[in-house]
Amino acid sequence: MAKIAVIGLGYVGITTAVGMGRLGHDVIGYDISSERVMALANAKAPIHEDGLEEALGFLKQSEKVSFTHTYQEVSDFKADYFFICVPTPQDASGAANLTFVLAAAKALSQIAPADSIVVLKSTVPVGSGERVKQALSRTDIHVASNPEFLREGSALHDFMNPDRIIVGAASEQVSTRVLELYDDIPSRKIATSVESAELIKYSTNAYLATRLSFVNDLAALCEKVGASVDDLVAGLGSDSRIGPSFLSPGPGWGGSCFPKDTRALISVASDFGLDLPIIDAALESNEESLSRVVESIRDLAGGSLEGKIIGVWGLAFKANTDDIRESPAMNIVARLLARGSEVIAFDPVAVAPKASGFSQVQSAELAAAGVDVLAVLTEWPEFAQVDPIKVSKSMKSTAVMDARRVLPVDAWRSAIDNFRVLGG
Ligand code: UGA
Repeated sequence: MAKIAVIGLGYVGITTAVGMGRLGHDVIGYDISSERVMALANAKAPIHEDGLEEALGFLKQSEKVSFTHTYQEVSDFKADYFFICVPTPQDASGAANLTFVLAAAKALSQIAPADSIVVLKSTVPVGSGERVKQALSRTDIHVASNPEFLREGSALHDFMNPDRIIVGAASEQVSTRVLELYDDIPSRKIATSVESAELIKYSTNAYLATRLSFVNDLAALCEKVGASVDDLVAGLGSDSRIGPSFLSPGPGWGGSCFPKDTRALISVASDFGLDLPIIDAALESNEESLSRVVESIRDLAGGSLEGKIIGVWGLAFKANTDDIRESPAMNIVARLLARGSEVIAFDPVAVAPKASGFSQVQSAELAAAGVDVLAVLTEWPEFAQVDPIKVSKSMKSTAVMDARRVLPVDAWRSAIDNFRVLGG
């Protein structure tokens, strides 16, 4: 079994630490925040992630994973592998900012044992492996890229059941050593160069985002021509060259990855004098999707948003997470506020910052009481359990926009005078 240090304990780092522990490796997780480290050491999950607390509790007992906020303890651990999982935020130009990655590499250059491997899991643009190598400035340490394909909310499941594992390295010997960590996972394993691995990660997210833009555009067309978007998606997805997953229409795609990674890919290409018109169009289409939802809400509000009260169900960028980064729901709320509406929102777990300019209430029912229009912006399954008749009685006027296609259509259509579903 290998000794692994994980640097950075966000959702990727925590999942990597826990996943590697579950594969039987000895793991130490490092984060700069002592508060986060303390929580993890006490088997408390600082993020909302399915099955995480149970896994942390189990690993605590088996002493497979420990956590620290000092590089000294990481050094004492004498790891064979160092997984860099720190954030790569977007800078003003749309490029990924490597400050944290390079700082981690600098710190590791002081403590990594000879022949150890520094593995980049953070999503980084092509050429970052080389920059990490320079920051390490040690010829006796190897660099590899092992991009993650973890969805927030089901990250642990995705770690243990990946479609494929990609490892990029300068030599077959190094990629084999990284792939061996995953011997117990029976998925396809692909060894390649560092540059190809970096690009596979970006292309995957850019492709998925483009696919959603395509579906969202067609959902709008379905609405216009009276076609069924459910049947369209079923028909489209039944073509084995297309496949059925990742085709649910929504108000737009968001989160901490798709928007950032599509822009970063465009920025990388432009550094090389290349345009990526399809990905440009996917971003543009996504803006359109968000605007379409706002205009639908405006129509339901009687043609103007000024002075209207809008109830919002869902703030997270998708269900099963508390993450509101680049959330379509938050984006739409901001547009509603800018157009003079008052917003009352409910999310089962996500909490918006106090200064967001709207109120957050403690139940779906409270977010519908007294409002002019109710908009469903995140697909939390519990919204489908709310009684539409009760909701209709408590609203000021009965107008509902389901932008996530989560409410049972027949029941809501018969209870609500003005019921609209994205995609028709
Ligand atoms: C995404 C990728 O799915 C992961 O493979 C990747 O590892 C991760 O980014 C990352 O780069 O770290 P995530 O951001 O957690 O994962 O979210 P997704 O589940 O992919 O959803 C992204 C957005 O697309 C959300 O706004 C979601 O609501 C939307 N979406 C997703 C749809 O509108 N329809 C769908 O069918 C699927």
